[in-house]
Amino acid sequence: MEILQTTDLVKTYGEGDTCVHALRGVNFTVDKGEFVAIVGTSGSGKSTLLHMLGGLDNPTSGTVTIDGKELGNMKDEERTIFRRRKIGFVFQSFNLVPVLSVYENIVLPVELDGGKVDASYVEEIIHTLGLDEKVNAYPNQLSGGQQQRVAIARALAAAPAIILADEPTGNLDSKTSQDVLGLLKVIGERFGQTIVMITHNEEIAQMADRIIRIEDGQIA
Ligand SMILES: Nc1ncnc2c1ncn2[C@@H]1O[C@H](COP(=O)(O)OP(=O)(O)OP(=O)(O)O)[C@@H](O)[C@H]1O
Ligand SMILES: [Mg+2]
Repeated sequence: MEILQTTDLVKTYGEGDTCVHALRGVNFTVDKGEFVAIVGTSGSGKSTLLHMLGGLDNPTSGTVTIDGKELGNMKDEERTIFRRRKIGFVFQSFNLVPVLSVYENIVLPVELDGGKVDASYVEEIIHTLGLDEKVNAYPNQLSGGQQQRVAIARALAAAPAIILADEPTGNLDSKTSQDVLGLLKVIGERFGQTIVMITHNEEIAQMADRIIRIEDGQIA
């Protein structure tokens, strides 16, 4: 079953002489439960693509459909709610809230959305990510790898339709990157979670089920 689909996705920044054709017509689909890596050189359009997939920015033309809903057809507020419920983001910078504990950070999106935290599910995520002993710690008391695992747990907590990760291991050393990615993969399998991850690291990309290569704004 398809969970994500793009059709003729185009993004052009600016206009006239200085315009940049960041995406030049991107078409692909991702099935439910798939773990897909998007790789490409710097400036090839990876982050731009992820921003379009997550509804963080509007494409110049083309469509993004997630879980049967076309993002472009939604009003801003509707899209914000959809994003919070259906899309989990993991970024290179972990973006944890410093004054909240690990546990509070993890359940924050669910609580912001007025939802009820599924305590046993969250506990299982915490356990799978090896964070049991850190639930009461604060982000500044954690290593980079631990912080990224908290960010992954936070992305998972709302049981989103899809997780979008932009260079999730970009700030981690290579051993920690492998560990964090291994956990992400295990999580994906255990919870049937769909993951689309951007990386420029071939070794990391090889851990995905499928690799999509992007060159100069197009799928190679
Ligand atoms: N807000 C923006 N305004 C203008 N140009 C932009 C903007 N964001 C990105 N670009 C341009 O679009 C192109 C694609 O950028 P993008 O950030 O998607 O690349 P990337 O593949 O993520 O690169 P990296 O691996 O360095 O993160 C680049 O030429 C970039 O300069
Ligand atoms: Mg980028």
